[in-house]
Amino acid sequence: LLKVADQVDGLIIRSATTVDAEMFAALSNIKAIARAGVGVDNVDLDIATERGVIVMNAPDGNTIATAEHTMAEMLALARHIPQAYASMKDGKWDRNTFMGTELRGKTLGVVGIGRVGQAVAKRALAFEMTVIAYDPYANVDAVKKLGVGLVSSLDELFAQADYITLHAVATPETRNLINAANIAKMKDGVRIINVARGTLIDEAALAEAVKSGKVAGAALDVYAEEPPAAGNPLIGLPGVVHTPHLGASTLEAQNEVAIQAVNNLLDALLKKEYRNVVNPAVLGK
Ligand code: MLT
Repeated sequence: LLKVADQVDGLIIRSATTVDAEMFAALSNIKAIARAGVGVDNVDLDIATERGVIVMNAPDGNTIATAEHTMAEMLALARHIPQAYASMKDGKWDRNTFMGTELRGKTLGVVGIGRVGQAVAKRALAFEMTVIAYDPYANVDAVKKLGVGLVSSLDELFAQADYITLHAVATPETRNLINAANIAKMKDGVRIINVARGTLIDEAALAEAVKSGKVAGAALDVYAEEPPAAGNPLIGLPGVVHTPHLGASTLEAQNEVAIQAVNNLLDALLKKEYRNVVNPAVLGK
């Protein structure tokens, strides 16, 4: 991409392409960037705004895919599905090791109750879980209508939840939100699911908590560094379920976000309409 960057007026990216200072320096003609997905933590928005480059995301298309993946991770954790699969693949027939637990009757704590958080809450309620959520920016009416209990602090959520699922964006404030001090405030045997961003978790602290049994299990789709560096303390740890950032990877979601990203980019380059702009300050320039 660096080699052809000077020919580019508009760029469509997913999360694996980093548009940082080096990339921006090479993108000498860039006018607009469309992200086929939600998170724009891979784009240096300060530089974009300074250069007058419009950055847009596609916030709707992968909501259901990500919510369904969260439920898949939660069920995989509760019923040890990856471990049971590996055991059968090894030729075993072991019905004793993989005793599970039910989701029904458990409390799910949702950290960040935006689009994906709400879609997860709906599905968890169908599994007869009690759902609570913490989000300082919550749409209170929409969340209450769903039947979700909003708590006023993370501490309250940590104290009540049997399962904690993260749906917050990666910002300096949310970095290492799940750290040793916060894990200590959680119930013994809590299970943690992260399909949002890896930087929300202090991975070394989570690995320690899984080893000690404080955290009964974790299901991770995202990592602080992707792919995770060799020696990442969580990879391969018993009780930890992994997928390689697949939350939005369904045919339906990728089709949807691709169409949205293309339309956003064309309309912006043709100066027809600016939708889903994540750096609106640029529009005044
Ligand atoms: C997103 O932010 O939309 C997801 O992480 C999926 C992706 O990598 O595009």
